[in-house]
Amino acid sequence: MTLFLIGTIIYGEKKGLFLVPVITGEKSENDMGEDLIVVGISQLGSESVWRTANTESIQDAISRRNGYFPIFSNARQKQENQIRAIRSFISQRVDYIVFSPVTEDGWDSVLMEAKEAGIPVILMDRTVNVEDDSLYVTHVGSNMKEEGVKAAKWLEWELIKRRIGSGNEPVNIVILKGTEGSSSERGRSEGFDEIARKHSNWNIVASVDAEFTTTKAKEEMIKILRETTDIDVLISQNDDMTFGAIEAMRERGITTGVDGDVIVVSFDACHEALVMVYNGIINLDIECNPIQGEYISDVIRMLEDGLPVEKEYFVEEQIFTKDNVAPFLDSRAY
Ligand code: AHR
Repeated sequence: MTLFLIGTIIYGEKKGLFLVPVITGEKSENDMGEDLIVVGISQLGSESVWRTANTESIQDAISRRNGYFPIFSNARQKQENQIRAIRSFISQRVDYIVFSPVTEDGWDSVLMEAKEAGIPVILMDRTVNVEDDSLYVTHVGSNMKEEGVKAAKWLEWELIKRRIGSGNEPVNIVILKGTEGSSSERGRSEGFDEIARKHSNWNIVASVDAEFTTTKAKEEMIKILRETTDIDVLISQNDDMTFGAIEAMRERGITTGVDGDVIVVSFDACHEALVMVYNGIINLDIECNPIQGEYISDVIRMLEDGLPVEKEYFVEEQIFTKDNVAPFLDSRAY
């Protein structure tokens, strides 16, 4: 049997009153009397084009049509909102919790509460840093460290091709980081640094947190350009930040890309950025694949069937340059 209570749920950016199912030991039912799997989903926010695509993907997959009763909550970049949402999922006794942690640290207690309540937790996109990894069942997302390694390895060759830094003269690099302490920021930074460390002339002139947003990135880039315009490379940890940084450089008369002053490496590979790759304004875009909903649904179905699941599932990703991007422009939906 399923009882319904009136509760406050945050749907997208809106707050409102909704009927919240209180499950009484049995699964929820839809109008047709079918059993529905109740899934509490805590999305971390809506900071980027990528995030919107990720939200759409999970909402498409974990839908009534597919046999689920989703309870969706948007944390607006605040860990305390995510913790509150997870606690509310626990008290509603949902069948599964899916969440994309805004930052890596600080989840041990709430995940222990979920474990004690017997609710399996699935991490989407980003990961957590917990002492006991049995606090979550699995992680479905990107190999963020590998993305950072790909950026640095590509840059090694590009610098050789362009003969930049060949006499060991400094290569001036600006890094715009995503949300500090998030697994995407940490992974990409760690991967890039691992290779960068081998090049004594890779000179990091600035490395700042631009929070994965266009506005903050533009603001930070303007500040950096007040200090120096002698920049060879921009590493921007997502496309939204890349847009802001390119705008700031343009306003200072600095060109970017294949024939430009500054080499630009971006992450995500959303449509607008891929067009900029095609037009030679961004040199390299490393894909971070937001379409994770179906994988998560598959994992839930496996758990429902009592099948073992892996601790980590990485989604497929590739890199885009002017040479290979053309065939992907029409099909990119986000
Ligand atoms: O965690 C994935 C990252 O978060 C994406 O690169 C970024 O665009 C998003 O906000």
